[in-house]
Amino acid sequence: MTTPELIETARQLVGAGKGLLAMDESNPTCNKRFAAHGIAQTEEARRTWREIIVTTPGLAGSISGAILYDETIRQQTKDGTSFVKILTEVGIVPGIKVDTGAKDLAGRPGEKITEGLDGLRDRLKEYAGMGARFAKWRAVITPGDGMPSRGCIEANAQALARYAALCQEAGLVPIVEPEVLMAGGHTLERSHEVTEETLHSVFNHLFIQGVILEGVILKPNMVLPGLSSPKQESVDEVAAATVELLLRTVPAAVAGIAFLSGGQSAELASARLNAMNVLARSPASHLPWPLVFSFARAIQQPALEIWQGKQDHVAAAQDALRHRAHSNHAALQGKYSEAMERT
Ligand code: 13P
Repeated sequence: MTTPELIETARQLVGAGKGLLAMDESNPTCNKRFAAHGIAQTEEARRTWREIIVTTPGLAGSISGAILYDETIRQQTKDGTSFVKILTEVGIVPGIKVDTGAKDLAGRPGEKITEGLDGLRDRLKEYAGMGARFAKWRAVITPGDGMPSRGCIEANAQALARYAALCQEAGLVPIVEPEVLMAGGHTLERSHEVTEETLHSVFNHLFIQGVILEGVILKPNMVLPGLSSPKQESVDEVAAATVELLLRTVPAAVAGIAFLSGGQSAELASARLNAMNVLARSPASHLPWPLVFSFARAIQQPALEIWQGKQDHVAAAQDALRHRAHSNHAALQGKYSEAMERT
């Protein structure tokens, strides 16, 4: 893929008024979510769940791209059609998670470094050959007592930049995901501070590695109070804090911003995304990039709870999945409302 093609793919993913569906849970993460609902933790159950997702009728009306996992990109529907083919045929661009997970950072108890750079050039080539057109790498930044350390932020930002450069070399659009976790009792101000420091570092390293920003999608957390913080700001306050921070830290050249949901409820994630897009549409606002979604839990979770691994629940689970995708699609136009949850 040439640079103009790379930039065109990035635009296709974030510039068409749609968002991304993350269905790239690693096997352990997927199994953990299955276990919470009494679903068998087997390869066949994971395949079945992913088949339910990719065959949901009407998904492409709201979803521009789907992020797969190494196991999933090799899987097929029961009748033998590859998931990549199904997605491509309905106009959903297939992508792939390429990091190999967040591991303990040496000498920094409680902090993580994402691994996966070794052999990445060859893996990217293989995934591109299988039809993937973009990739994802998630770094984890943990606010806490004396955390995050500068060492953690810099190491993760550098890994993200090296990954992004390799992706662009292979013709894949990198989704750069530095996630400041929302678990914990920290305040919104602390989330703001940590996210600001993290994003500055990430864009500094992307510059050092010569990454073409027009061919990058940023996947950040929203600026949120910790889940157990006693003070929970309003939807509008979260939206204002997040937009303000992004304007201060993200270069205008970046193709777009696709938020992760990070453990928020599905409804809150939609409401906050909506409020940001309402802000973006106000005459005084001049946001240089589209603000879309790249949710996993905030799209899948309600459907998973309905499915429970049961064949006769599949249609209802697909309805729930389509409803969340559709709600988030409405949020991109600033047209989401709580009333949508009652229909
Ligand atoms: P959540 O939306 O569940 O945070 O997942 C997004 C994601 O892709 C995590 O890497």
